[in-house]
Amino acid sequence: MKKYKLIGPITQLLTMENLSVKGAIKDEELSILENAGILIEGDQIHTIGKFTELSKQADSLDAEIIELHGNYICVPGFIDAHTHICFSGSRARDYAMRNAGKSYLEIAEAGGGIWDTVTQTRKADQQQLTNSTIKRANKLLQTGITTIEVKSGYGLSVQEELKMLRAIKDANGSTEADLIATCLAGHMLPKDFDGDHKAYLEFMSNSLFPLLKKEKLTNRMDAFIEKSAFLPSDIYPYFKKAKAMGFDITVHADQFSVGGSEVAVKMNAISADHLEASTEDEIEMLANSDVISVALPGASIGLGCDFTPARKILDSGGALAIASDWNPGSAPMGDLLTQACILGTFEKLSNAEVLAGITFRGAKALNLHDRGQLSPGMLADFNLFQTNHYNEIFYQQGKLVPSQVWKRGDIMYSKE
Ligand code: NIG
Ligand code: FE
Repeated sequence: MKKYKLIGPITQLLTMENLSVKGAIKDEELSILENAGILIEGDQIHTIGKFTELSKQADSLDAEIIELHGNYICVPGFIDAHTHICFSGSRARDYAMRNAGKSYLEIAEAGGGIWDTVTQTRKADQQQLTNSTIKRANKLLQTGITTIEVKSGYGLSVQEELKMLRAIKDANGSTEADLIATCLAGHMLPKDFDGDHKAYLEFMSNSLFPLLKKEKLTNRMDAFIEKSAFLPSDIYPYFKKAKAMGFDITVHADQFSVGGSEVAVKMNAISADHLEASTEDEIEMLANSDVISVALPGASIGLGCDFTPARKILDSGGALAIASDWNPGSAPMGDLLTQACILGTFEKLSNAEVLAGITFRGAKALNLHDRGQLSPGMLADFNLFQTNHYNEIFYQQGKLVPSQVWKRGDIMYSKE
């Protein structure tokens, strides 16, 4: 295997460089290189430039030349910055009940809701969870998603949360996609825990956090702030402890009612995700902070709820990433590109803003600085779409799938 590879010529290569992390982006601001090539060294991008010029360099480096025939558009590998793909069981019954007009409470009383998935996930052994997570991750990789955040949160006891996070770690070792694990022990108060919300969180932070560090299972801590889950006053001591131990903070915020985004801002969280219920006040607060707002259109589509006010967030100067929230309950579709395009139509986002949301702004939502853009030194994670203009990718709303997916300098998938 040669150390260097040159791929091209590429009709349009969108580097996603020189764009602001915050605020609106016009399509005209995109830097688009025509007749481009990517020179790869190992797992990283060595040079991006005109294919004809790079060809000369490639000869002197004895690079493998992968010549493309026809029109190809190149974009960075997609980043799904919020998923719950480590789970067991189905919540198809919840979906049917919801659409038949049943309330959250009625569904929970019928044995549905998050607790149903907790019960099913607890029944699965670690290997089963590893296997199903690998399967889902590989499916996402084929659609061009090269980095996937994966949350725990269906264990809700020390041993069960460890089981999930160990399964995610093992899955990461067996899929070519990068899995970024997040601890969501603060998903809901487990029904079998004999205590109040504060006591549960105190217990978990004392017993689970040190083990997460010891086994290097995650450096990210999430919680669901909502009346049905945890209140801000429950979460502050939990997050403070997590922060003091070096965890990055991320929050399920403002999904049905406000409160979570304020916690995210006050705790200097990396991201505040959901935000469907955010009002002007929350949007302004987020825009004046370094917190990345993450829209989860899959949850709006799955629940039939309003979309995150993405346009307002961007126009107020906020940073907007877009993720799938793939989970068995609220977001069972798990199709990031389709969902991002649909959010684009409802919220009037430019194609540049949609693409930024699932590339470099997604990377920022995970505090990752080595991906999401195509430039020297970045990971060689990119997608090639067989079409003549990047607009086609968004126009076809997820139906145009990548012809080639490249991860860390190797081809993962080719449709030819
Ligand atoms: O992000 N909002 C809370 N948690 C998940 C839903 C999880 C579930 O329903 O299983 C979410 O939408
Ligand atoms: Fe979620």
